[in-house]
Amino acid sequence: MDCKEQKKVMSLLEKEVHEGLTAFPKYLSSKFFYDQIGDALFQEIMELPEYYLTRAEYEIFNTHKTDIVHSFDTNNEGFDLIELGAGDGKKTKVLLQELIDQKRDFKYIPIDISENAVLGLEKNLSKEIPNVNVEGQIGEYFEVLDRLKEISDRKKVIMFLGSNIGNLLHPRAIEFLKKMRDAMHKNDLLFIGFDQKKHPQKVLDAYNDQSGVTAAFNKNVLTRINKELDANFDLNKFTHWETYNPETGTAKSYLVSLEKQTVDINGLSLEIHFEAWESIHTEISQKYDDTIVEWLTKESGLKSVKDFTDSKTQFKNYVIAKNK
Ligand code: AVJ
Repeated sequence: MDCKEQKKVMSLLEKEVHEGLTAFPKYLSSKFFYDQIGDALFQEIMELPEYYLTRAEYEIFNTHKTDIVHSFDTNNEGFDLIELGAGDGKKTKVLLQELIDQKRDFKYIPIDISENAVLGLEKNLSKEIPNVNVEGQIGEYFEVLDRLKEISDRKKVIMFLGSNIGNLLHPRAIEFLKKMRDAMHKNDLLFIGFDQKKHPQKVLDAYNDQSGVTAAFNKNVLTRINKELDANFDLNKFTHWETYNPETGTAKSYLVSLEKQTVDINGLSLEIHFEAWESIHTEISQKYDDTIVEWLTKESGLKSVKDFTDSKTQFKNYVIAKNK
């Protein structure tokens, strides 16, 4: 990340921490989980026995790769495969290898705000699947998508995996999908992962693992505020708490203050008071079913044309097109 981006992110952190911790009830955005430590913790989460999402999506790709790749390029006309978020590429590699094996004409374009993530992925791919034509883009998703729309009208397939969309409540998910729609030409496609509703206990366990990695991940936002905004949160005075509402399909993460306390955020010249048992809401991880996905896409001027699921129907990937 260069200096300019660092500064932009910093001032966003300042602004949102101020806003969220002076609000009632208190909240912080989950996008602040992901610094270097948070990235590493999320890698650990993906390996946890309780965190089924990554394995389920991986299973989907392995089982259905032939059909998935076919659905991307039914006319064999060639396309750009765009991925929002560079990640570590473990799941994506399954599809990239299949595209190579089927001799499809494609370019892979991972987009991420972190230069580090994009360069790391490019380097890794050039070693592991040297035949892939990779052209990473550094920037915000929509800024890059708009740029790509201008420079080429080659068919685009835009992937947004891992149920990352679940961090958005429905109205914001619709906003996001509408913007995607605007960035698409007529025959372009979206390929999006939506974690499915399931036994409420299974969802709770996925976000409240035995080994406490998710708790550390959640608390990392406080560590970050301590470091970057010169604050003195005592991590032992907060506990990680997860809820899941089977009616709405919304899982929510909180940090709950174990006692009445005051925290100084020197970088903001701010004192934050917590009552005993007061909460900070930090993340939502929305769960879906076909009816909700159909509604979200319809509201956004899109339609699902095909979907793929794992053997236990835990997770689904939908191929989505423009409505007209
Ligand atoms: C990366 C947003 C899909 O919500 O499941 C994992 C993040 N949070 N454990 C999710 C997360 C706690 C994850 N997403």
